[in-house]
This record gives sequence, C-alpha cells and structure tokens, in this order.
Amino acid sequence: MKIEGSTALVTGSNRGIGRAIAQALGERGAEVLGGVREVDARHSVGGVANVRPVRLDLSSPDSVEESVRELGTDASRIDLLVNNAGVFTGGLFDRTDVTKAYELLQVNLAAPIHLTRLLLPSMLERGSGKIVNNASIIGHVPFPGAVVYAASKMGLHGFTESLRRELEATGVTVLELITPGVDTDMMDQVQSELDEHANTDGWDHVDPVDWAEKVLAAIESDDDELNPGGGERLAKLLPKALLDLGTKRAFSR
Ligand SMILES: NC(=O)c1ccc[n+]([C@@H]2O[C@H](COP(=O)([O-])OP(=O)(O)OC[C@H]3O[C@@H](n4cnc5c(N)ncnc54)[C@H](OP(=O)(O)O)[C@@H]3O)[C@@H](O)[C@H]2O)c1
Repeated sequence: MKIEGSTALVTGSNRGIGRAIAQALGERGAEVLGGVREVDARHSVGGVANVRPVRLDLSSPDSVEESVRELGTDASRIDLLVNNAGVFTGGLFDRTDVTKAYELLQVNLAAPIHLTRLLLPSMLERGSGKIVNNASIIGHVPFPGAVVYAASKMGLHGFTESLRRELEATGVTVLELITPGVDTDMMDQVQSELDEHANTDGWDHVDPVDWAEKVLAAIESDDDELNPGGGERLAKLLPKALLDLGTKRAFSR
C-alpha cells in the first residue's frame, strides 16, 4: 500500500506505539487522524506534522459509535485503520477485578472489531484499504500473569486471521502486528505488575520509533504479519512442551 497521500486513522495515538506510528505515517506523507480519548491540551498529538487529533474513545460501544459519527465524512475516506489502542492488567487471575477484565476486553478486542465493522464498508466500496491490528507476542506465546490480556490478544489474532481470509481478493488487506516488548508506559506497567511473579529485568525492549518504522515497512510491502525479532521470535516457534518448561522456570505464583 502506498502511504503517501493516504488517509490513516490510528487509535491510541496520544502516546507510546500509537504516537510513533501516527508520527511516522505523517512524516511519510499520509493525512493522519490521530485518535485520542479526548481532544484537549493533555491528550493531543497536535504538534506532530500531518496529524490531526480526533476524539476516538473506545471505552464503550456507545463511545465508539459517537466517535465515528463525529468524524463525519472523514470516516468514509479512511484508507488505513490502525487498531492500536490497548490497556494491560497483570497479576494472578484469581485476584483479577472482573470490571477491569470487561474494560480490557472492550478496549483491546471489542473496540477494534466494532471500529473495523464501521469503517470497512467504505473501503470495500472503493476496492482498497488496509486494517492493521496491534496484537502481541502474548497472542502467540500466552505466558502466565496476564491471563485476560492474553485472551484479548489471542482473540484479536483470531479476528485478524479470519478477516484476512474473508477479504481475499477484495482489495482490502489485513496486517497483524505481533508486537514484542516495546519501551512504553505499558511496558513499565507490565514489569511492575509481574514483578512479584517473574524476573522481568532481562526482557528486551524495542524503541517505539524503531518498531513504528518496521510497521510502516510491513504496510508498504503488504505483509500479512509483522513478527518480532530475537528471543520473542524464537519463543513463537517453540512447541507447547518447551514453552511450558520455560514458563515453569520463569514464573511463580
Ligand atoms: N508496549 C509493549 O511492550 C506492547 C507489546 C505488545 C503489544 N502492545 C500493544 O500495543 C498497543 C499500544 O501499546 P503501548 O505500549 O503504546 O501502550 P501505552 O503507552 O500505554 O498507550 C496506550 C494508548 O492506548 C490509549 N487508550 C487506552 N484506553 C483507551 C480508550 N478507552 N479509548 C481510547 N484510547 C485508549 C491510551 O490513551 P491515553 O493516553 O488517553 O491513556 C494510549 O494512547 C496496545 O494495544 C498494546 O497492547 C504493546
């Protein structure tokens, strides 16, 4: 897909990976709608070239509908939807707050499905477009201590793969980001919430700007997945028995 001249919508572009992707797309000549929870002084990517902050609150089905309605005719011009926004909750599952679990599933899984359902028909009418879903290595290597998060990312993986096959030959393509550890606020949260159960000191962290560059390259080459490198790529290839052994060593209740 050609990025220059395209119209992109990136959810969760206020910080972290979303901000880096929005910025990189803008620098490459896309017109970027930078999805933020609220367009105000705190939540803004307004200073970034070619990025216009738009409200995209994924907290509930109603807020997703309202946010897309507020986009007006811009919604039907979107060529590239990057479902990036996400939240994390870690620790032992038997202590998980069920309300938080529902909130996580809403933002990480239901909202990308909902947003795709709203924006895909215009892409299909034009016979072109791309959906990019920011999943995670945990969607392929479901380690313990983040059970609900793993469920959301495995769900997003299933949605992405099934949709990709369904859209074959329509001109609309799908890309799954199998994102590794990236140095963002979420990674800080992961490390502090898993601290009691695992030693996360040696974990690799990729810089968000470097990961965004890889994402753009995968968009341009119409790849259907972007794999992590290093140890995470190897973990993805391991058989279940070896993964069980690895997590037994690395994790304790
Ligand atoms: N960092 C990693 O190591 C890693 C690894 C694998 C996958 N991922 C995935 O990559 C994506 C981005 O993560 P990140 O590391 O960049 O996280 P981050 O720095 O914590 O940023 C998360 C973004 O999501 C937005 N968001 C959260 N809840 C929202 C809601 N209800 N409505 C709209 N926006 C909402 C946040 O908005 P506010 O700023 O307003 O809170 C923020 O912009 C997530 O899907 C995450 O699961 C990250």
